[in-house]
Amino acid sequence: MSDELSPSDRAHGSSFVAHPSDPLFVEQLRLGPLWNFVYLVGSRAAGEAIVIDPGAEVEPVLERAAALGLRAVAVVATHFHTDHTAGLEALVRRTGAEVLIHHEDEAGLRRHYGGPLRAVADEERLRLGDHAVALWHAPGHTPGSQWVVADGAVFTGDALMVGCVGRTGSEPEAAERMWWTMSDRLPRLPAATLLYPGHDYGPEPVSTVERERERNPALRAGSLQEFCALLTG
Ligand SMILES: [Fe+2]
Repeated sequence: MSDELSPSDRAHGSSFVAHPSDPLFVEQLRLGPLWNFVYLVGSRAAGEAIVIDPGAEVEPVLERAAALGLRAVAVVATHFHTDHTAGLEALVRRTGAEVLIHHEDEAGLRRHYGGPLRAVADEERLRLGDHAVALWHAPGHTPGSQWVVADGAVFTGDALMVGCVGRTGSEPEAAERMWWTMSDRLPRLPAATLLYPGHDYGPEPVSTVERERERNPALRAGSLQEFCALLTG
């Protein structure tokens, strides 16, 4: 079942498989002064959830998980920035959940997080009940930014937000890598895929891949040069 989540499979036209008897559900919590989105992605049948990008305020996340009867089994950081990871230590202490970060962001995370973690590579998969959850490397905002892809939804962190792309990192190749993310990764997702960003910076808190293709200026670029011009323009 997990094969339907592979970026390479996506190029061959396969699509997400729905699980009507136990659909994954998403809780979107807007927390902190930067309007970060923290996500609980859960399987009620399994009683398990993945936490995506815990900010500094862990208590509301734990309270919501408890209210839903869910145990946090994994925490995925879309990237190392502190507004998305400040709560990791407390969350791990309280839940024992495994922390997953892309290996290119491990050093960045280690500047402010000393707890256990698993550094992952592109296309790492985890299971959530009967569901497969895939982690796609999506660099540009940071070297190890990653997207969480599951059951018709993508959690894009700060790489792609509603109506805009995130700022590129300071490394020289950051813009080129961001372009690769938008021109290689994004097209692999079906148009109807729900897009959940890392911050509430857009006109709506949730979008779709199709909607962003229509209105997101940075996604109109046809080449790296055009993309860089849009970023700086
Ligand atoms: Fe960020």
